[in-house]
Amino acid sequence: MANSKLTLKRLMFSIASLVELGQEATSSKGLSIKMKSALYVITGTFSVPMAALFVYHPQRRSLELLAAKGYKESARREIKLSIQTKHIDQFHANEPHAIQEMIRSSFYEQNDTVFSKLQTRIFIPLFAKDEFVGAIALGKKLGRASFRQNEKDVLRVVAHQMAITLYNATLFLELTKKAAENKKLYESMRRIYHDTIQAFSAAIDAKDGYTKNHSYRVACYAVAIARELGWNKKDVEGIYVAGLLHDIGKIIIDTRVIKKGEGLTTPEIKEIRRHPQISHDILSKINFPWKNIEHFVLHHHERMDGKGYPDALRSTQLTDGEKILALVDAFDAMTSDRPYRDKLRLDEAFSEVMKCSGTQFDEQITKTFFDLLRKEMNGEVKVLQILPHLEHADVSSFRNYGSGSM
Ligand SMILES: [Fe+2]
Repeated sequence: MANSKLTLKRLMFSIASLVELGQEATSSKGLSIKMKSALYVITGTFSVPMAALFVYHPQRRSLELLAAKGYKESARREIKLSIQTKHIDQFHANEPHAIQEMIRSSFYEQNDTVFSKLQTRIFIPLFAKDEFVGAIALGKKLGRASFRQNEKDVLRVVAHQMAITLYNATLFLELTKKAAENKKLYESMRRIYHDTIQAFSAAIDAKDGYTKNHSYRVACYAVAIARELGWNKKDVEGIYVAGLLHDIGKIIIDTRVIKKGEGLTTPEIKEIRRHPQISHDILSKINFPWKNIEHFVLHHHERMDGKGYPDALRSTQLTDGEKILALVDAFDAMTSDRPYRDKLRLDEAFSEVMKCSGTQFDEQITKTFFDLLRKEMNGEVKVLQILPHLEHADVSSFRNYGSGSM
């Protein structure tokens, strides 16, 4: 009777420990703290002063220490078990193995020093979803009593619970690592992509004889307007790339015609006006992650009154992206030196654009652009997006324009 009472008491204690362990396993603590707590619950329940928990590293073919109780820090560094697949195949999942019964196995022989150091009596291989994830080594019990069957039953349940925790944590770590690797890979691909596009844009500008960085400035001005209009990040990136590549079609137009600038013959004008269509045809063959790039470049020489090219579209037929590129391309051309003429002062360019607002350029887009430029000049915005690119232009003359002039 007394014996059955004691067994019942032990069982109750074990169940309480299991509940405790369950709470540990589902807590938000770090894996090693979580496992250490679980190990302490086990050692407390079964009166085992020494215990170790290992995590399996398949690539290193080893069981490496994750948590331990009862060992000096210096001794813990040497605790590592080597293991092979053939050993794992012989284990019974989450079953407490008496070390006595393992002595003749090659797994024990390979690791006998460590097992002796740990004073191992019970070895429990941890399995979750048929996958080997780690192991627990339990030392001798206080008083040297052996493990009873009911204790082994409890250990089996505990081991399974710990195996699942270990499995989930390992899976999470692997996923996090993979996500970080993918992000890094994506970032480097994105950088290469952007560098390539920038190199292309520099090549386009070089052929055109524009002031260096024309395409880059067009891209930056376009981004400034798009942001001001509340475009999302991806669409802003799209118009940036469109700005960089809008004149790519000029690459196959005769350089002498492009650089001639003034006094073009009718066939030469016809030839140069082919470039938006060529830009479109080149870019539409590339599977960009951004939408409408080929349309933006196709229509960057259209006008609001329908007198532009190549399709003579009117304001209502043009998208904001096309209107933005049309404005900033012309604006940068006005404020940059060309082989055949000097740049305009900023106030002259402003007057010119304002004169053409509603006919050549969209009124709202024009207002957005100059309002932003004025805010930058008055120090009303923290980040300057237009002004830094106008270093080559005479901006002082523009300061005289108040908001009432628009
Ligand atoms: Fe162009």
